[in-house]
Amino acid sequence: MRVLGIETSCDETGVAVYDSERGLLAHALHSQVALHAEYGGVVPELASRDHVRKVLPLIRQLFAEADIEAGSLDGIAYTAGPGLVGALLVGATVGRSLAWSWGIPAVAVHHMEGHLLAPMLESRPPPFPFVAMLVSGGHTQLVAVEGVGSYRLLGDSLDDAAGEAFDKTAKLLGLPYPGGPELARLAEQGDPTRYRFPRPMTDRPGLDFSFSGLKTFALNTLQEARQQEGDPLPPQTLADIARAFEDAVVETLMIKCRRAVRETAVPRLVMAGGVSANRQLRRRIDEMMCKEGGEAFYPRLEFCTDNGAMIAYAGCQRLSAGLSDPLGISVMPRWSLETLGF
Ligand code: KG4
Ligand code: ZN
Repeated sequence: MRVLGIETSCDETGVAVYDSERGLLAHALHSQVALHAEYGGVVPELASRDHVRKVLPLIRQLFAEADIEAGSLDGIAYTAGPGLVGALLVGATVGRSLAWSWGIPAVAVHHMEGHLLAPMLESRPPPFPFVAMLVSGGHTQLVAVEGVGSYRLLGDSLDDAAGEAFDKTAKLLGLPYPGGPELARLAEQGDPTRYRFPRPMTDRPGLDFSFSGLKTFALNTLQEARQQEGDPLPPQTLADIARAFEDAVVETLMIKCRRAVRETAVPRLVMAGGVSANRQLRRRIDEMMCKEGGEAFYPRLEFCTDNGAMIAYAGCQRLSAGLSDPLGISVMPRWSLETLGF
């Protein structure tokens, strides 16, 4: 089965073709980072309009580059949620309409299921069951995964998602949008012993997360440092604060992952979503899983953040199981992973 995947849930237009026998045939991405940079965050209306401009030319480019004909496709998968409603509607409308005109089925894909299954595109995919840690700009979730569609939520963020905390703290540090990768780069120069940030919610049982306090802690630390060292702060102080923040997020995620792996007695951990590109996080998670006698799995770096390949893969699993969605175009800006069983 050959499936075109379309991702437009936020600020990346991603398209890809996945073939169940030959694997990923092609993928293309258009990032809107430059468009939103001057506003310091994603502007939903600008995002929708840019998806409208880019999605069809990107599909045309993908087909031309990989020599794929529409007639060779068996189905189309589009991200139907969670995400920005206007942005989602663009991909859903284009995906649903192309499928109708080409006489093939279309299936709505949950964006986080896409992230969760992204490591399946690698040469060494994780065997089921596994625990998944989804860390993106909008979500921080621990999920027990029995198989495709069988997801049990073990823990969730009560306030800011890990990526959101990275982005907001990066802004406080004066770093350009999107701040997560910039903050990680600055933290590499930082002294890990100078400041210590709290590890929220690790001193009590449970697998939920709360990262909004860390942003406030960063703000207070910055203000105190400015009183002592002046404004603007020396670059080394900014790097030291970035390092303390990153260490706190990474260790908190590591502690909760270890707890989830022990509680479920499943020694396989998948890390996915934008923050799983973080090198420090990967290092700490690998060390921890090694000590636990287990193994960690990640998507390749370019498929940690939003992309069409993960949507094509997830859609292919659903279409292969005989699932498809009706002709109406609907999206779900909020959508629970636990409702995806089939
Ligand atoms: O999965 P994703 O592309 O979009 C959502 O579905 O949200 O994740 C984007 C998030 C952003 O918050 C970004 O700052 C963060 O992932 N991110 C990182 C890194 N690369 C991306 N955070 C920390 N370290 C990184 N290297
Ligand atoms: Zn995402």
